[in-house]
Amino acid sequence: MKHYLVNGKGIDAIQLVERNSLNNPKDDEVVVAPQAWSLNYRDLMVVRGQYQYNNSQQAPFIPLSDMAGIVKAIGKNVTELKEGDRVLNAPFRHYPAGKMRASWAKTFVGGMGVDGVLAEEIIYPAGALVKVPDHLNFQEASTFTIAGLTAWAALVTHGKTRPGEWVLLQGTGGVSIFAAQLAKSLGARTIMTTSSPEKASFVKKTFGVTATVNYRESDWTAQIKNITNGEGVDVVVDVAGGDMLAQTLPICNYSARVGVIGVLSGQHANISIRDLLSRQIQIRGIFMESHEELKALMRAVEATKLKPAIDKVFSFSQAKEAYRHLESQKHIGKVVISV
Ligand SMILES: NC(=O)c1ccc[n+]([C@@H]2O[C@H](COP(=O)([O-])OP(=O)(O)OC[C@H]3O[C@@H](n4cnc5c(N)ncnc54)[C@H](OP(=O)(O)O)[C@@H]3O)[C@@H](O)[C@H]2O)c1
Repeated sequence: MKHYLVNGKGIDAIQLVERNSLNNPKDDEVVVAPQAWSLNYRDLMVVRGQYQYNNSQQAPFIPLSDMAGIVKAIGKNVTELKEGDRVLNAPFRHYPAGKMRASWAKTFVGGMGVDGVLAEEIIYPAGALVKVPDHLNFQEASTFTIAGLTAWAALVTHGKTRPGEWVLLQGTGGVSIFAAQLAKSLGARTIMTTSSPEKASFVKKTFGVTATVNYRESDWTAQIKNITNGEGVDVVVDVAGGDMLAQTLPICNYSARVGVIGVLSGQHANISIRDLLSRQIQIRGIFMESHEELKALMRAVEATKLKPAIDKVFSFSQAKEAYRHLESQKHIGKVVISV
């Protein structure tokens, strides 16, 4: 069987390597043959050496965190899965439910010292795998691990989005598109920011986004205030951070919930405490979520028959091209690798 290894920095440091087949799961583990994998912006940061927590990233390591595949073998204590089941993985090997713990945070796969899933076989804890709903194929299912779960965490677990509320979605990347789809299924109204007029018309037509605003225009926040009749937004899915987070707080409604997810616009923000306290805004850092929340998301996906937006599919041997396509930032929705 083959797997990819990152040995150095940059996309060219990803190498395809042959290794022995895996047939020795521990009692609570499962051997899975991934059939599809999906990429996240984080995977680019990982191969560029920009994603290092606790100095834990060691080369060489197996990259990528998202996959869907077929159960090949189970450990002797595994009762909830059997050979042949279709499963997708949670991003943390250990984060069953509730409040994160430091030891669990270190089990995020694919770039923090823990091998990822870009391999023809992986061994995974049974409790960190979720069955794939019947209406999804492997390529679709592979996209929920990080992007779907993060959008769910921001909108549902912590955002508690209600029908009729205004949700601000930054950019048109994987997390934001999922959030647009979920927000619509919750009956919320959405404003999506994008630097691309083509992407703006596409997301309105395809995902029913209520309004779009170009975040490169100097009055983008004033445009959002106007769209919401001066009230501001109730929930924010903030993948940008930095200055954009600082500019977003003044256009938040009373009791707004801001999910801080990414740092595309910078790691530091000079925010107005007055805005924060006077309008009782809650800012919550999001770091994906637990196995329990992934299961809740997949129940909601099954009930609503939600299908993710896939931008382009690459073959296993074209993994580097998939990374380069993500790097080009031309995609709308998820970039996927498939057997
Ligand atoms: N904390 C977590 O749990 C978590 C989980 C997943 C992702 N993330 C983070 O969230 C971010 C997005 O991830 P993703 O996988 O959805 O990315 P992605 O698919 O690569 O999409 C990024 C999109 O963001 C927009 N964008 C780029 N630069 C921007 C800027 N300066 N300000 C506002 N928007 C900008 C672009 O939209 P347009 O082309 O339309 O302009 C781009 O398509 C990354 O920083 C990632 O590391 C965090």
